Amino acid sequence: MTHIDEMKQRVATLREELNDHNYKYYVLNEPVISDYDFDMLMRELQQLEEEYPELADPNSPTQRVGSDINREFVQEKHEYPMLSLSNAYNREEVEEFDQRIRKIIGDEFEYVCELKFDGTSISLTYENGQLVKAVTRGDGVQGDVVTDNVKTIRTIPLVLQGEGYPSHFEIRGEILMPFDVFEKLNAQREEANEAPFANPRNAASGTLKMQNSAAVAKRQLDAYLYHMLGDNLPSDGHYGNLELAHQWGFKVSEHTRKCATLDEVFAFLDEFDVKRHDLPVATDGVVIKVNATHLQEELGFTAKSPRWAIAYKFKAEQAIAKLISVSYQVGRTGAITPVANLTPVQLAGTVVKRASLHNADIIAQLDLHIDDNVFVEKGGEIIPKIVGVDEEARDTHFMPVAFICNCPECGTPLIRKEGEAAHYCPNEATCPPQIKGRIEHFISRKAMNIDGLGQETVDLFFREGFINDVADLYELTFEQIEALEGFKEKSAQNIVKGVEASKTISFERVLFALGIRFVGETVAKKLAKALKHIDAIAAATEEELNNIDEIGPKIAESLVAWFAKEENKALVERLKSYGLQFEIEEEEEVQLSSNLEDKVVVVSGNFGTSARRKELATLVEQHGGKVGSSISAKTSYLLAGEKVGPSKLQKAEKLNVPIINEEQFLQLLAGEELEQPEAIVEETIVEEAPEVTVVQEVEEPIVEEKTAEEEAPKEDDSSNEFPTQQTLFGF
Ligand code: IVH
Repeated sequence: MTHIDEMKQRVATLREELNDHNYKYYVLNEPVISDYDFDMLMRELQQLEEEYPELADPNSPTQRVGSDINREFVQEKHEYPMLSLSNAYNREEVEEFDQRIRKIIGDEFEYVCELKFDGTSISLTYENGQLVKAVTRGDGVQGDVVTDNVKTIRTIPLVLQGEGYPSHFEIRGEILMPFDVFEKLNAQREEANEAPFANPRNAASGTLKMQNSAAVAKRQLDAYLYHMLGDNLPSDGHYGNLELAHQWGFKVSEHTRKCATLDEVFAFLDEFDVKRHDLPVATDGVVIKVNATHLQEELGFTAKSPRWAIAYKFKAEQAIAKLISVSYQVGRTGAITPVANLTPVQLAGTVVKRASLHNADIIAQLDLHIDDNVFVEKGGEIIPKIVGVDEEARDTHFMPVAFICNCPECGTPLIRKEGEAAHYCPNEATCPPQIKGRIEHFISRKAMNIDGLGQETVDLFFREGFINDVADLYELTFEQIEALEGFKEKSAQNIVKGVEASKTISFERVLFALGIRFVGETVAKKLAKALKHIDAIAAATEEELNNIDEIGPKIAESLVAWFAKEENKALVERLKSYGLQFEIEEEEEVQLSSNLEDKVVVVSGNFGTSARRKELATLVEQHGGKVGSSISAKTSYLLAGEKVGPSKLQKAEKLNVPIINEEQFLQLLAGEELEQPEAIVEETIVEEAPEVTVVQEVEEPIVEEKTAEEEAPKEDDSSNEFPTQQTLFGF
């Protein structure tokens, strides 16, 4: 054996051993070697990989530490859309679900009950036992590729162990931040004067979207997997697949349980309504699923969710706290948000000290008095809300809460526009939180994405008088920043570089970054596409704007008002002078031919790799056609690979949609006439490919995030604690 072969073998052994120890430590909670020994093995592997770069492997256990490279996330379409679940809020609704199912599939079936984890969902793709991709839910159709960040999560296997896993499959689950990690992180953040995360879910999703995977690695995220997808799953039941997933190294909740009857389901609900309080991570309900895959297929999907599953939601937990005072926050638009300061109280796994009061009407409705005992509830909101007041506990000397009349930051008298619930500080020009808020929005990831700048830096630069509006960012100098205490050469350079790089950001994002009211990401895109240039938008009348697809009167009015202001016009001119993009770059659409003009092609089944399927879909567009997601009367062709679902084929046949194979498709692209498109040969039809059964609509609202670390809430729900109970799953 040559030396390099020996090294290769040693590296392979080390990787295998480290993966195994990692699994025993993080997934099974049963380490068999000391941390020191583990570190020694890791160090040896690291050294070998450094010495022999040709032996590098992106899924080596050394890659879990993350990297310092900052990168933007690439978006990718999900092979199977990520769906929502319909909810049941009481037993009757669960019974109705059960009845609906029995009507369709009869009485011969089992349920699987599992916890509904309250984190951020993730889809992992494995090819030949290797993690190749991790994608967030995004809008359900496409999400952010966050593979590097996900690799830092120790409970997610990079390489599968054992055997029997399909060569290509997806597994979905929830990424969570355990309560203890969350509490520690927030304590650190408060100490560092950084805004704490509202709940573990936000902390998990914020962390997952961080640009620096080394920082993610420090956050100690965890992951539970609960749904396997693919063409060749080994078991014909959901439970069986999860059991196997556990054997391959995935963390599957030990509380997952098969239930033969509805009574057993109810017993599970009762049991976990109590036990959830002792769990280490947040849950907000129980998901009840029909176990057998063929029955799931028979039940199918509605437009939004599977018919074979339902989420039973736990009742929101309440706590009583005393109202100490009300503070008022000023947002970037000048909107005033009252916030209740409460005596700290434990609620659903976290300590609550603040609750949102939304606006003056809510305070009036609650008839809030200082020192009142209030009922606090955690819903889906970022911060908990006050749902009631214990009026009996009110003393006669308690003072009613009086909404402020002047801006708490700049003293300007507040205004309240007709028909709007919020009070506003009209001092856009000099009210500090409005100025800083606009700058923070401008630099945020989905806007100008300026690296190296965050809330604290903006605050500091503002206090130092360096920046007073977004255009001032382009005048910042390296010397100016480096001279500040706490700034090293590298961080100063990063900021200057980040600002410079933002000059290439596309017009639609610049338009969004300006922070014009009601001009969110989508509206900015529409406007940029329709009018192409900032001058055209500035010159457009309300009527003209209103005529643009999806631009309503509110947006039109806001745009005209914004561009009417001299200071805004001047700001745009300054930004233009720094070289920002103020016109749309014509998209370089590769148009190869128009041979598929007016044709709708549905691409379905296996074409060797998922990349090939995507290529075929792109080809449809490059030849002037449209890609359809489900068969309808409008479909021109079904381009079928292997294992297209029988129902899709039947539908195509019923609607007389020609079924073509890849070769025939290429003939079409070349402009050749097809003789008689035929159905693909019968043996290749094995099972229904779930992605083709319906066009999914997305139910969960996915809200734009403000910065890399701040994320919006998920659908409904409360966050709870999590138990580490007996192993019911037998893993
Ligand atoms: S199954 C087709 N199982 O709930 C259904 N989802 O509203 C696939 N979730 O986006 C989902 N725990 O993020 C499933 N045990 C569990 C779950 C679970 C949490 C989340 C998931 C999904 C949302 C559905």
